[in-house]
Amino acid sequence: MNFDLKTLELTAAASEKCDLLIALIPEGFKPGKDPLSTLAAQALKNGDLATKAGKSLQLYQPGGAAARRVALVGAGDGAARAVRQALLAVAGAIKAPQTKRVVVCFAGKAQADAVSAAVQAVAEASYVYTTTKSKAEARSLSRCVVGVHSAPDVREAFDTAVALVAGIEFAREWGNRPANHATPTLLADAAKGLAKLPRIQCKVHGPAEVARMGMGAFLAVARGSEEPLRFIELRYNGAAKDKAPVVLVGKGITFDTGGISIKPAPEMDEMKFDMCGAASVLGVFRALGEMQPEINVVGLVPACENMPDGRAVKPGDVVTSMSGQTIEILNTDAEGRLVLCDALTYAARFKPAAVVDIATLTGACVIALGGVRSGLFANNDALAAALQEAGESAQDPCWRMPLDDDYADGLKSNFADMGNVAGRAGGSITAAKFLQKYVGELPWAHLDIAGTAWKGGAAKGSTGRPVGLLVQYLLKQSQAKAPKAPKLPKADRPATAVGSPSLSPLRARTGKAAPAVRAPKSGAA
Ligand code: BES
Ligand code: MN
Ligand code: ZN
Repeated sequence: MNFDLKTLELTAAASEKCDLLIALIPEGFKPGKDPLSTLAAQALKNGDLATKAGKSLQLYQPGGAAARRVALVGAGDGAARAVRQALLAVAGAIKAPQTKRVVVCFAGKAQADAVSAAVQAVAEASYVYTTTKSKAEARSLSRCVVGVHSAPDVREAFDTAVALVAGIEFAREWGNRPANHATPTLLADAAKGLAKLPRIQCKVHGPAEVARMGMGAFLAVARGSEEPLRFIELRYNGAAKDKAPVVLVGKGITFDTGGISIKPAPEMDEMKFDMCGAASVLGVFRALGEMQPEINVVGLVPACENMPDGRAVKPGDVVTSMSGQTIEILNTDAEGRLVLCDALTYAARFKPAAVVDIATLTGACVIALGGVRSGLFANNDALAAALQEAGESAQDPCWRMPLDDDYADGLKSNFADMGNVAGRAGGSITAAKFLQKYVGELPWAHLDIAGTAWKGGAAKGSTGRPVGLLVQYLLKQSQAKAPKAPKLPKADRPATAVGSPSLSPLRARTGKAAPAVRAPKSGAA
């Protein structure tokens, strides 16, 4: 799907030919003299429309508009959250098969965040999963024009949002694929595909190398499966070589049966989403490849299935992790922390500025925070604050949880350095305490996305979260840490900018547009 940004007020938007014109009507809307403004003003006056976010009125071929359908939608205060709410309220019309061209017009002032929210909401509303359907109808929407009062003012936010959408949809696509269409090997192939983008490299390690590195905890989880494990290592090199990278570690359990501590049958299918942490890391790289910010990022994904089998690891087995610490595996269903702990040990070799792991780690986190906020755990206040802020501004929020050492008491074992579970109480926190034993002094954060990575029920499907949060965080880091241009009086400035940090993050150093990367046989690119 193509997005376009145009300077377009309601008057001009009315003459855009399209299947659906969405006019975002904010509080304090000042109608002009054009027919659509007049319609909106009348509808507001008669109580048939309200400016409350999400209130809407749909019209068919109204006079004065070139659009077949017009949706007047209340946009509340016009901020990102309200705009998202407004557009999702007309998601049905956006997704309708006859809707191929949409124009979204801001009838009031368009803030950068709100424009970004509009792009994301249109993408979210029109997304369709097709990969494993035989008579799949692809996304009908092919073009979306976003009309604002002044396009140059929001150009950067718009371009960033379009790139972000590519990342979110990449994550959604891989999250949604059934486990037999998203094996560790296929996930690794998808990662290798990302290396076609500028500045991205990918290395994939197989079982022999993982064994050689001593990743005994990761190996223990993979033992019960016929599918060979993969350890994926991605690099995005956007800054100088000596610049410490941010390392992202994504849980890549492509299916979690629970292993010998097997899960009950109801809703077990949803454990195909247990690689959504991994998918979010891939999605971030997809977006980085498009945006080309000045930052170094490493992505690590331990990917395998968790299956019961004659060779599977058993409750009570003791394994040795790459860190040398031994683990009594009391419950084989607490496998996420086992694959992550070895990846966290591996992460230290990059001397990272920060390590962030992303995992559908605990059902307990779903109970604690539901599907609204991801759980955030961190041993570093500045890192926690930066991630929290990124979540708020990206409309992809998280909530910080405690890490008191007392929570680790239950992890004590009589037979190893630690057990892998600590009872039901505070389950998401004890899981985080387990991970913390593998990061030492590194600035580290853990995002438990068990509640936010996918939706169940009728709307079952991956959300692409927390790609928005992570990309926002990385972009902020790239800007904060870019070398400052020396402040020279105007006359002394060199004619050509040197290492200008103010360059739009979307402009690649090469100047070349990023090639399209497609997940095989899918609409997500
Ligand atoms: N992948 C699950 C966590 C999960 C469960 C996410 C349900 C979303 C919905 C994880 O591997 C797991 O099974 N965790 C156990 C840990 C327990 C055995 C300590 C859990 O949460 O029940
Ligand atoms: Mn499990
Ligand atoms: Zn799991």
